[in-house]
Amino acid sequence: MMSESTRAALRAATRNDVDAMAEIERELFSDPWPASSFASLMEQSHARMYVAIDIADGVVGYCVLLHVLDEGEIANIAVMPACQRRGIASRLLDLAMSDAVGLALRFLYLEVRVGNAAARALYASRGFLAIGRRRGYYRDPIEDALVLQWVNPADMAEKSST
Ligand SMILES: CC(C)(COP(=O)(O)OP(=O)(O)OC[C@H]1O[C@@H](n2cnc3c(N)ncnc32)[C@H](O)[C@@H]1OP(=O)(O)O)[C@@H](O)C(=O)NCCC(=O)NCCS
Repeated sequence: MMSESTRAALRAATRNDVDAMAEIERELFSDPWPASSFASLMEQSHARMYVAIDIADGVVGYCVLLHVLDEGEIANIAVMPACQRRGIASRLLDLAMSDAVGLALRFLYLEVRVGNAAARALYASRGFLAIGRRRGYYRDPIEDALVLQWVNPADMAEKSST
């Protein structure tokens, strides 16, 4: 198991990672993405996937960014339970957000379960704000989704100067 002092390395996901990603997915979500979903996204130019790798455990977390025109979506982010609360999701999200800036995306969106305090705190720490609520969006258990938005600071600067 990853030791407290080990820092997981981040890199782009490859096809060799998808089984491990799907395994974490099954452990964490009631409606997990299958390995085939990760594999097919890997072929898409509008998708970027990042993994956190630990020497002992291999893939311990991942993040999926989708982008179309000037908007993006954090479609998935997860860290295996034994490695949570060590800043891995923060670093994965920072990497996705710096790519979003590089791609000149103006906005990022995502959905999160209203009761997912851990994820909500993570997103709040990176400047995501709630802009809507989708009633009964999730199954197993049924729960509302909050829709969160991040605005690229470059876009805000442009608006305030016009
Ligand atoms: C949400 C998740 C990705 C966070 O991963 P992580 O690597 O543990 O997150 P970090 O260590 O980077 O934590 C970042 C911040 O999130 C918040 N946070 C993380 N876990 C938390 C918890 N269990 N309770 C409260 N806040 C928490 C804290 O504000 C934390 O900052 P801090 O440690 O300085 O207080 C992880 O809990 C997870 O995989 N959950 C299951 C999958 C999931 O819900 N994904 C999001 C779907 S929208």
